[in-house]
Amino acid sequence: MERKEYTAAKNYTLFSFTGVPQKEYRPIYIEKADNIYVWDENGKEYIDLGSQLVNVNIGFGNQNIIKAIQHQVETLAYVAPKHSYEQRGELGEILIEEIAPKNMQKAFFTLGGSDANEFAIRIAKTVTGRDKIFSKYESYHGATYGAGSLTGEPDRASLFPTIPGFIKYQAPHLYHYDIEFATEEEATAHFLKRLQYQFEMEGPDKIAAFFIESVTGSNGVYLYPKGYLKGVRELCTKYGILMVCDEVMSGFLRCGEWFACQKEGIEPDIITFAKGVNSSYAPLGGVLISKEISEYFDNNPFATGLTYNAHPLGVAAAIACIREYQRLDIKTHVNQLAPILTEQLNWLKEKHISIGDVRSTGLFGAIEFSQNRETHAKISTDKEGRPFLQQMLLVLREYGLLTFGQGSTILFAPPLITTEEQLNEIITRLDKAIEYVDDIVNSI
Ligand SMILES: Cc1ncc(COP(=O)(O)O)c(C=O)c1O
Repeated sequence: MERKEYTAAKNYTLFSFTGVPQKEYRPIYIEKADNIYVWDENGKEYIDLGSQLVNVNIGFGNQNIIKAIQHQVETLAYVAPKHSYEQRGELGEILIEEIAPKNMQKAFFTLGGSDANEFAIRIAKTVTGRDKIFSKYESYHGATYGAGSLTGEPDRASLFPTIPGFIKYQAPHLYHYDIEFATEEEATAHFLKRLQYQFEMEGPDKIAAFFIESVTGSNGVYLYPKGYLKGVRELCTKYGILMVCDEVMSGFLRCGEWFACQKEGIEPDIITFAKGVNSSYAPLGGVLISKEISEYFDNNPFATGLTYNAHPLGVAAAIACIREYQRLDIKTHVNQLAPILTEQLNWLKEKHISIGDVRSTGLFGAIEFSQNRETHAKISTDKEGRPFLQQMLLVLREYGLLTFGQGSTILFAPPLITTEEQLNEIITRLDKAIEYVDDIVNSI
């Protein structure tokens, strides 16, 4: 018998990212959460292997963030976007002076990642006076019209027709590319050449912005070959195209630096962020703009905005969350765990025939299952012909692991407070759960 709360949510609300018709969709019902764990209505405990949607970076139940939100709601729950208040400036200063690459000057606050990308598109078009926008296949940038037009995964079909002028390029996601390169540098040179060709064909003076997730997120944690982001930066500079790094998923220490682009020493013109900025204790996203872009707006109005721009609850949560990252030295912690995770994922790959590829940086990882290590073919169904990914996520739930995925890839992105002991526990559970996939591959 389903609980009333569960039934009501299904009867009266529409669930997102279901992949199946609503009536077939069976969401997990989360009753409570703490640290890296959530519990369902039967008291079953799960490790939150996806940090929900790679956003609850600090884990659940952080008392300092909770207290900061309580204090904020009691003293000043809301301020209109045209007015100022203390924490708005405080967060802006922290982001620019302590966190962002040196070339950044200002932050504009939104509610999440999609609208952050909307504003990045709008800012880039306004500042350059150009119309075209580049973004890559196998990307996710959000669900609103502009961010959905940026998004380059097949699911965006539901949005067609996308906004004119949004052009897709192919980025070096090497595992599924049909050419094998001897070195990463060779791959980089190949893809930069293709990109330059596309820029030339589209007319560089018509291109406002080039968007890229600094590390591809929900499409499978693809890492670019050495020098690719740097090469892109150089091409964008050469043609006056604004480089926008989408750090909505990869930012806020997920990859071991505040922003993943900093690992490559890149200074983009615009950075978009959300999720980890306050570990989603309240909605907040934003856009960081460079000194040059900021100067443009020093001399021109910014004729747009949001009622919830710089909402005090999101902002207070962000200040507290960033201070928690620093107090707990999450950066060092992530960088200590990162090589252990890489080693453990490789160990799983060696042991399990069904694992085609493993990828990770920081505490951001993916396990890609494959029918065949030669062809890299994805697994689409289980032995009974049911959609593979959905079944796999259910099997993981049986082992007390909650995550999400895409295609035949699952994401490995636990909260950044995960200890080495907890990491070992996750690997032990995965090791058992993956036998289910080995069994499918052995039966093919
Ligand atoms: C890289 C990236 N950009 C943008 C978004 C959209 O963010 P939101 O769902 O907060 O609108 C997401 C969401 O997962 C994301 O991963």
